[in-house]
Amino acid sequence: VVDPRINGIKTRIRVVPNFPQPGIMFQDITTLLLDPKAFKNTVDLFVERYKGKNISVVAGIEARGFIFGPPIALAIGAKFVPLRKPRKLPGEVISEEYILEYGRDCLEMHIGAVESGERALVIDDLIATGGTLCAAIKLLERVGAEVVECACVIELPDLKLYSGESASQTHLHALHS
Ligand code: PRP
Repeated sequence: VVDPRINGIKTRIRVVPNFPQPGIMFQDITTLLLDPKAFKNTVDLFVERYKGKNISVVAGIEARGFIFGPPIALAIGAKFVPLRKPRKLPGEVISEEYILEYGRDCLEMHIGAVESGERALVIDDLIATGGTLCAAIKLLERVGAEVVECACVIELPDLKLYSGESASQTHLHALHS
């Protein structure tokens, strides 16, 4: 049974053809944010899934994981940790590089933000190849945290999931594909 809220969320996500380059169908969640009810339903669906699961840290991936992560963290009583693109965090960091369709990118996390033994939830807006989520999982596992699940709003069908070895242990939860 599909939750009736999911269709409302889906219809609020605008698909922009050929952005940011030809051939890409960009999934634009800014239109979802314009509808407070659909935005709240999105957050609520995650909160209902993760409340009471003893999660102490919500790690949000730059940039759109910074929109969905904090309200989820507040509602489940967890701290929020931003996983940022290179050279954005001012403190000491650990880094994980990952492969993009064209080129490479990198995620960084502040040392000391997450401690060994913590239970973490990773949040982003979208999973395509899974490379970004794999880098996030590796950062958290390197400091001894357990990644309970990775959650995102949209799962693209051409998904090549779990390219990283450490990610094979982690479950993915997407609201819709
Ligand atoms: C998008 C999206 C995810 C990632 C998913 O971010 O928000 O973070 O790509 O792709 P993957 O599963 O193939 O790794 P983007 O790289 O566009 O960065 P931005 O949020 O900083 O614009």
